[in-house]
Amino acid sequence: MEVIRAKHAGVCYGVERALDMANAAMLDDEDTYTLGPLIHNPKVVEELDANGVHVAASPDDVQEGIVIIRSHGVEPDVLATLRERGLTVIDATCPHVAKAQRSAAQLRDMGGTVVVVGRADHPEVLGLCGHAGERAVVVANANELPDELIEPVGVVVQTTQSTEKLESVVEAIRARGIEPTVKNTICFATRQRQESAARLAGEVDAIVIVGGKNSSNTTHLYEICKAHCPKSHFVEGSDELQASWFEGCKTVGVTAGASTPADQIQEVVECLEAM
Ligand code: F3S
Repeated sequence: MEVIRAKHAGVCYGVERALDMANAAMLDDEDTYTLGPLIHNPKVVEELDANGVHVAASPDDVQEGIVIIRSHGVEPDVLATLRERGLTVIDATCPHVAKAQRSAAQLRDMGGTVVVVGRADHPEVLGLCGHAGERAVVVANANELPDELIEPVGVVVQTTQSTEKLESVVEAIRARGIEPTVKNTICFATRQRQESAARLAGEVDAIVIVGGKNSSNTTHLYEICKAHCPKSHFVEGSDELQASWFEGCKTVGVTAGASTPADQIQEVVECLEAM
């Protein structure tokens, strides 16, 4: 069985940067926390914890020390609270997320409804809503658009969503006779990973998507692959692979989300090659 890796897969610039900042903070003697898991990858979070970078569920759980804001960013109030409390804040918000936050604030200032395309419970979306103001509505797809949209309507999108999802929401708004101001804030790394996953999934007999099951961008990669290749399998690590999935397959592709480190991808590749 030939194993082919997607051209673009695995840890993106923003996650790499956040991990570098956390690794640098480890050298400090102070207590160090991340507000929520640093990245959506359980194995990496366990390693960080073992090295003294612990997960705090909320700002109230940190009384002193260093707080790392993860690549997903936070609401402006959260940042202000942490700073007021005198904590040392290391802001690892990905620059692409920071740009999306600025776009959300610009749309808020237009005064109408700000449609945020994304997963309502995702930390990045919570942060975007904090910048988008009271008139923000989160929609996972066009069916979730509210009956009433106050003009001028703005649209901003979670950085890891798919272009198809953004376009379907924009089209549904246009179908109501409203021309929205659209900020396409899907990041380049996400687009690259989605495009190369789609290409590879269309060429192989089966494909494995590696990443945390709680990772939004990895879940999208899985959905994209599934649309092109029925034998798409989403795993967090090589221990989940089953030989029966690949019976009769001559080629198997491997792709991975933006929060999946290179060693986890390599383990999966080696395990597949050994099958
Ligand atoms: Fe940033 Fe895009 Fe990665 S927004 S964290 S570079 S997936």
